[in-house]
Amino acid sequence: MNPLLSKLQPYPFERLRRLFEGITPHPDFSPISLGIGEPKHATPAFIKDALAASMATLAAYPATAGTLALRTAFTDWLQRRYALQLDPATQVLPVNGSREALFSLAQTVVDGSKSPAPVVVSPNPFYQIYEGAALLSGAEPYYVPSVPSRNFAVDWDSVPEAVWERTQLVFVCSPGNPTGAVMSLDEWKKLFALSDRYGFVIAADECYSEIYFRDEPPLGGLEAAAQLGRGDFRNLIALTSLSKRSNVPGLRSGFVAGDARLMKQFLLYRTYHGSAMSPIVQAASIAAWGDEAHVVENRAMYRAKFAEVTPLLTALLDVSLPDAGFYLWAGVGESDTAFARDLLAQYNVTVLPGSYLARDSGASNPGAKRIRMALVAETAECVEAAQRIVQFVKNRSK
Ligand SMILES: Cc1ncc(COP(=O)(O)O)c(C=O)c1O
Repeated sequence: MNPLLSKLQPYPFERLRRLFEGITPHPDFSPISLGIGEPKHATPAFIKDALAASMATLAAYPATAGTLALRTAFTDWLQRRYALQLDPATQVLPVNGSREALFSLAQTVVDGSKSPAPVVVSPNPFYQIYEGAALLSGAEPYYVPSVPSRNFAVDWDSVPEAVWERTQLVFVCSPGNPTGAVMSLDEWKKLFALSDRYGFVIAADECYSEIYFRDEPPLGGLEAAAQLGRGDFRNLIALTSLSKRSNVPGLRSGFVAGDARLMKQFLLYRTYHGSAMSPIVQAASIAAWGDEAHVVENRAMYRAKFAEVTPLLTALLDVSLPDAGFYLWAGVGESDTAFARDLLAQYNVTVLPGSYLARDSGASNPGAKRIRMALVAETAECVEAAQRIVQFVKNRSK
């Protein structure tokens, strides 16, 4: 067995299952889950139609690089969204959702044979795949806190030079899961300067980029690079996905874009890994990336939902409207695990304890005393959940 497998931590939902063992939720309340960040708005019909209409293509093996039509759908979207012109032949690749791409990118870029062991830097709290990807590549994860006092901006300055010297890969999540924070141009500038100095690759996880609450869309990593005169996107790969943008988490479709030199190696890795995208998924993806109307509609639904739900909670919890994403990352002022357990027992609402999404760094865990609420269900259900949480908090403080 690969000994690195034993380093993997239990996934947060496994920990949640254990936390809830033996609890019988109050029978007067129907179950509502804000626990899992899985999109629940309807998949647009035209995407399903494109999938069904392409069944004849199943009789051939797809190329790992995807068709030129697919790669052009990516670069056309990047042009419309960020006013960037990338080369479809060398600067983009299809991936089967950003999750597998985050993982396989680490296996591609990290040289685990280095001594001392390489480091992969991750925000803290973070999307759990970053950690598993780092560990299985033979690297040591290093967690950089993202805390409310800095509006959840990751504190890159806190990383010691000795750590940067061993760093081969940095994961960036903007908009952030769970914080919803978007990285500014100044933060990108700092990170690019560090990448130039220490030679690490930046993996920019941007799968929430189309769900935002401000007027201006979130700045993308490639966009920031171009604005800072880094048109070759050196050492930068952005990862994006249709799962949240187009409500197709089951399609498993996304793409990566950026540094052509890295893309070539990534394609080599993926060819052996066997991660070509199914031709029917390619057809549906071309349709989805080519349409923006459903994305505008989807965003409007999230905006309406967050506008109703957030104000219900702000008086009682330390929470505010995020920049982007579909989570509320709320301070509860007490043990996050006790809060989640008792909330389930008394009101049958599931939330995710924040400490499950973070690791201890220094003396504290930046997810402690916080909970993540995924507002993915219909508005009425999310409002009902918020009202129960309000009641729960009021009873608790009596
Ligand atoms: C921050 C972040 N990155 C990546 C993913 C993976 O999404 P997908 O593989 O569906 O593209 C998720 C899914 O929840 C996520 O929250």
